[in-house]
Amino acid sequence: MASMKKSIIAAGLSFLPLIHAQNPASTSPGNPSLTTWKCTTSSGCVAQDTSVVLDWGYHWIHTVGGSQSCTTSSGVDKTLCPDEATCSKNCVVDSANYTTAGVSTSGGTLTMNQYYQSNGAITNASPRLYLLGSDGDYVMMKLLGQELSFDVDLSTLPCGENGALYLSEMSATGGANQYNTAGAKYGSGYCDAQCPVQTWRNGTLNTGGQGYCCNEMDILEANSRANAFTPHPCSSSDCDKGGCGFNPYALGQQNYWSPGGTVDTSKPFTITTQFVTSDGTTTGKLTEIRRQYIQNSKLIANAKSSAGVSSITEPWCESSDGSAAGFGGLTTMGQALGRGMVLIFSIWNDAGGNMNWLDSGSSGPCSSTEGNPSLIQSANPGTHVVFSNIRWGDIGSTFTNPGGSGSSSSTITTTTKATTTTTSTRTTTKTTTTTSANTASQTHWGQCGGNGYTGPTSCASPYTCQKQNDYYSQCL
Ligand SMILES: *[C@@H]1O[C@H](CO)[C@@H](O)[C@H](O)[C@H]1NC(C)=O
Ligand SMILES: *[C@@H]1O[C@H](CO)[C@@H](O)[C@H](O)[C@H]1NC(C)=O
Repeated sequence: MASMKKSIIAAGLSFLPLIHAQNPASTSPGNPSLTTWKCTTSSGCVAQDTSVVLDWGYHWIHTVGGSQSCTTSSGVDKTLCPDEATCSKNCVVDSANYTTAGVSTSGGTLTMNQYYQSNGAITNASPRLYLLGSDGDYVMMKLLGQELSFDVDLSTLPCGENGALYLSEMSATGGANQYNTAGAKYGSGYCDAQCPVQTWRNGTLNTGGQGYCCNEMDILEANSRANAFTPHPCSSSDCDKGGCGFNPYALGQQNYWSPGGTVDTSKPFTITTQFVTSDGTTTGKLTEIRRQYIQNSKLIANAKSSAGVSSITEPWCESSDGSAAGFGGLTTMGQALGRGMVLIFSIWNDAGGNMNWLDSGSSGPCSSTEGNPSLIQSANPGTHVVFSNIRWGDIGSTFTNPGGSGSSSSTITTTTKATTTTTSTRTTTKTTTTTSANTASQTHWGQCGGNGYTGPTSCASPYTCQKQNDYYSQCL
């Protein structure tokens, strides 16, 4: 299914402020900060000094001290960039414009727009971002035997849109090297399980036109009508491009994920994904990927097929995806999760296939044509996804069990200890909210409250701040 994954922006991908070049990047890369939380059962959640960076392809690469572009619509200018060393001498990479890329952040909230609208003009933004640490390298999330929680608002994403949060095993430095000193801070080094062919490959000019494959774990690919989560393990030269995805609609649960459904996609909710090992350690063999939701203070167990499938396991992968075993299945996926993977956020639509693999036919309720990007642009130019309160760490440490209502068959078990530690975290973050309370007002749809949130708490007229859950209030 992910064979439809968006190909990288053709132009972008390139170079580095040469160390002693008169580079215009005496300016900082300007990456918007996005607070995230790392959690343990023993000490709760600790705020991390993280930011997001747009993919290399969104950055302007131009001549040193000049404004001639070093890239073309089909790759690089062969005169300026005949080879890596010359390109490095001639060209620098500039900071990106996050506004025109449709991206904004506030505290722990990230908003990504499909389109950028200004003075009646509309352009396709379709941003893709990576989570960066304060050291300038990507955050290598090690999720084997751990879990990841976040809140998401998919309410404005129609058929054909894909708001995605996933992991790829990119290099922590973005492939920074002597010719590319910019690296991760400028969004270098993207790879995924579709083995994309890009102008730069792991930070190096890709003169050989090779693809760049790496292990990929799709935690959420979704709109308001359909969703899937999918492991894509790789061998050294190829990947399980289809993967054994879990899609409730495809498993017969057609009212599970929809506006007003079991998971009500017209409102924000929390998603928790757990990577369970055979021995419960962070080094064991990955045996199961579990999922649950929290909405309106209610724990919602993952959908269950009539055959009783409610999580991703090795036997189920082998029965539903003929390619899984050849790439080592969950075992390979688990090893990558154990080494560490980069967190990626994107919003995109699909001119070639209208995202039918995600939300049409047996995968969802959408017709084969309503996901056409030109229809989306005219009917839903404001479509956007909001990710917030990203927390990762020990199993049971990243969410508060609201008390079990509605969780008769939850596959996720949580300890009472987790509840206690999360509560103490809240106290800490609440203090932050108070001390840094922002007097600016939030715009329509934006976040205006919630544990761990530090941005504006009042809404621009005529909107009011409405609590959706403990982690999320929104201007509606
Ligand atoms: C981004 O682009 C917009 C529109 O062209 C412009 O108004 C704004 O100043 C730019 N921001 C930066 C940081 O360059
Ligand atoms: C990517 O580049 C980094 C830094 O140059 C290097 O350590 C790593 O091995 C490279 N990875 C691949 C898969 O080529």
